[in-house]
Amino acid sequence: MENTNTKKGGFASGIGFVLAAAGSAIGLGNLWAFPYKTAENGGAAFVFLYVLCVLFIGAVTMICEIFLGRRAQANPVTAYKKINKNLGWIGLIAIAVPTIIVCYYSVLGGYTVKFAANSFWGNTGNLSAFAGSEWQVILFTLIFVVLALVVVMAGVKDGIEKASKVLMPALFVLLVAVVIFVLCLGEGVKEGLLYYLVPDFSEITFSSVLAAMGQAFYSLSLGMGAMIVYGSYTDKKINIVKSTGMICVFDTMVALLAGLAIFPAVFHFSAMEGIDTSSLNLNGIMLMFETLPKVFESIGAIGKIIEFFFFAMVVIAAVSSVISIMEVASQFVIQKFKISRKIATAIIAGVTFCVSIPVGISLGYLMNGVDKMTIFGLDWLSFLDTVTNTVLMPVCALLSCVAVGWFIGSKKSIEEMKAEGNSFGKLEGFVRVMMKFIAPALIALIEIFGLIDLIFPGGTFSLNGLGIVLVSYAVLGVMVALYSFFLRNKDTGDNSDENA
Ligand code: PHE
Repeated sequence: MENTNTKKGGFASGIGFVLAAAGSAIGLGNLWAFPYKTAENGGAAFVFLYVLCVLFIGAVTMICEIFLGRRAQANPVTAYKKINKNLGWIGLIAIAVPTIIVCYYSVLGGYTVKFAANSFWGNTGNLSAFAGSEWQVILFTLIFVVLALVVVMAGVKDGIEKASKVLMPALFVLLVAVVIFVLCLGEGVKEGLLYYLVPDFSEITFSSVLAAMGQAFYSLSLGMGAMIVYGSYTDKKINIVKSTGMICVFDTMVALLAGLAIFPAVFHFSAMEGIDTSSLNLNGIMLMFETLPKVFESIGAIGKIIEFFFFAMVVIAAVSSVISIMEVASQFVIQKFKISRKIATAIIAGVTFCVSIPVGISLGYLMNGVDKMTIFGLDWLSFLDTVTNTVLMPVCALLSCVAVGWFIGSKKSIEEMKAEGNSFGKLEGFVRVMMKFIAPALIALIEIFGLIDLIFPGGTFSLNGLGIVLVSYAVLGVMVALYSFFLRNKDTGDNSDENA
């Protein structure tokens, strides 16, 4: 699958594209969100639901996004503009969402670098001290941003693709090594597996279905421009359907394996120390940075090596995700303003780093129980996370399906893809219906219930929730206005502008 496009700086090979896209997809969403959401929502029953969501709506949306980028060979604004001049604002949203995400993801990335570097000395009990030390948080965020910047600056083929080809296999090897080690720990392993995977269909409620859908979208990096941008760097020889299949399989496999490492380890620890697992914090930041170090370090010297492997793997997953979303804004700036990649990426990294400083400081207050620097009752990280993931991402994913299914037209899109060598086999009719009706309808449901949950958490009205929703939609409005005034009738560039 050699690419004739390499002069223009696209991916050199199909597998390079698949690994880079898998790198984007495989991130903190797989390593910490998936395992605890699974455990909370009925174990294998949730996995089953999740796989259905990936297969039916995630994959279809991913096909739409890759297709959008691929046919335009341009940044998201130009890609939507090529369908209809009045749609370009969707592209601007698809650039704004990931750029906001970079600002807080880099802070978490910095945490992972710090914890990897500190593994041999021990991380237990260090979370609040580290989080509260402003210079350390800023320093490690900076290290993480520089790691990502070096890759993005080197370009798509020589940076992103090359890095993904090394990082993805490395991540997989590290993950398998950690899983094997943990599964051999003996006591507690079986209980951990049971806790993680025993199917309990009675726990499948409407909200767990929504959780599975939301998780599938987040985990596959949909609704954040990344797949449109990576898709734009592929040429017609790359099979979109097969590539999507591979990306979805890799992403799901890593998510499942992560749980196989985490829960047996935690249950082994609680069996050895005689503590009740329900007293351990098993979700999000606490699971990763507080509970797991305790678990690893209870195993002694070898545990510290495993801990290092584990955090090295998390750093790899985080870097390969953040480069994909840093690339989104970089590509646009390069193409719109016709400036060099080096300058564009340096500007994007510089600006997002500056925003990440207050985000990191605010998270530090939260971790130390200090009620300072909150927006609508949330720390800055949770605020930006909610704005992007709960409100804007589904809107963005929905609009990409609508653009392909309705504006280009599902029939025409599928014909175009078939003419380029993609085959849908017996599923063609099914994919058409999914693309046009079912996927957009289900994503709209995710959005609506996400909004309801924000404005009426637990059934009572929340002014803060309403504030978050209004701010998010204001961001949408600003993007529409910016597009109409400054971009609609102007050249917004395409991939041929790089190296021009
Ligand atoms: N798919 C990513 C994950 O699972 C989501 C993401 C991508 C987040 C890029 C940030 C940056 O973590």
